[in-house]
Amino acid sequence: MESIKVALLGFGTVGQGTFELLVKNGDLIANRVGAPLQVTKIYVRNKAKYSHIALPEGTQFVESVEDVFTDPTIQVVVEVMGGTTFARECVEKALTLGKSVVTANKDLLAEAGPFLLDLAAKHKVDLRYEASVLGGIPIIRTLYESLAGNRITEIVGILNGTTNFILSNMTEKGAGYQEVLAEAQALGYAEADPTADVEGLDAARKLAILSSIAFNRRIFFEDVSVEGITKIDATDIAFGKEFGYTIKLLGIAKETKKGLSLNVHPSFISSDHPLASVRGSYNALYVKGNGIDDAMFYGRGAGSLPTGSSIVGDVMEVAKNIRTHHLGALQPFYFSEKNLYASGK
Ligand code: NDP
Ligand code: HSE
Repeated sequence: MESIKVALLGFGTVGQGTFELLVKNGDLIANRVGAPLQVTKIYVRNKAKYSHIALPEGTQFVESVEDVFTDPTIQVVVEVMGGTTFARECVEKALTLGKSVVTANKDLLAEAGPFLLDLAAKHKVDLRYEASVLGGIPIIRTLYESLAGNRITEIVGILNGTTNFILSNMTEKGAGYQEVLAEAQALGYAEADPTADVEGLDAARKLAILSSIAFNRRIFFEDVSVEGITKIDATDIAFGKEFGYTIKLLGIAKETKKGLSLNVHPSFISSDHPLASVRGSYNALYVKGNGIDDAMFYGRGAGSLPTGSSIVGDVMEVAKNIRTHHLGALQPFYFSEKNLYASGK
């Protein structure tokens, strides 16, 4: 059976985790999709940097992204470079050329998600982004498919692995902030520029994406009030501990009488609260809805294979749609303009 050809743009933490899973679970994936998935091209800036990696036959590094765009056999493009300028150009180009896109790029989605989903629909291809929020936890599809029959009134979560790793290690091991941040970077949890993690911006982008789906309206990153963890020190942690509290960076979206309130900030939570036991790079999301009552989703929020797992799941869904000619179905963020969040934007 002919394989479905995939290209990766970027081969860092997430790109390599994605590739590893696609290769090592190849037989299972082919069985579930009904056709093998083959990564034929991996776009990198400098091949020499990856010369120590032995690629299987049929896969090659390319240094020109045009090699991907001009290849008519490639049907799925996985964007795992990050950033919003070049990545956006690539995503737009791929969609316009009729190639489906899978991305982990929450910065791009928080900035241009609705526009890009429109573009995908216009060109009758898929744009999927499960990996952009909560790493390996399948939350995007859960919200827009499984929980779609609920009126959701509240979501509260630990949405950033790096800051949770930092706060957990400062609390449990008395480790210093800079030392644990460096460890989170070495483990591949942090963004290329960790400012977005520690200042709460990454969590705010994820809250905007999740809330857009959960509350069925267009929510912008700028609608979220944000405070990061850079002002937290050992004294705050010791103070919390003394009274039975743990500090967590929470993202909170709640329906109130005045409208939707959207906040990311460090919070003292009781040490016996379920979110207090979410440690290290783990993330969790608590969802309250008028059908399920409440539910909590928990797992690894960052890292190579967990994030790769979400990407591969999306690539498989796209591949199934290619096989069954169902590309371009309605996807989250795809709501009518009159539903725009009442911020006036
Ligand atoms: P890395 O920095 O580890 O890897 C990025 C890769 O993209 C590198 O191979 C880099 O190449 C390449 N790249 C970056 N910019 C360009 C460019 N302009 N042209 C060509 N190649 C480029 O990042 P991650 O893998 O950690 O993150 C990738 C994406 O996934 C980001 O959007 C991130 O927010 C998201 N994400 C990350 C998670 C994680 O746990 N790390 C979890 C969930 C989402 P080079 O080596 O040349 O710099
Ligand atoms: N830097 C992000 C985090 C990666 O630490 O949560 C996962 O989105």
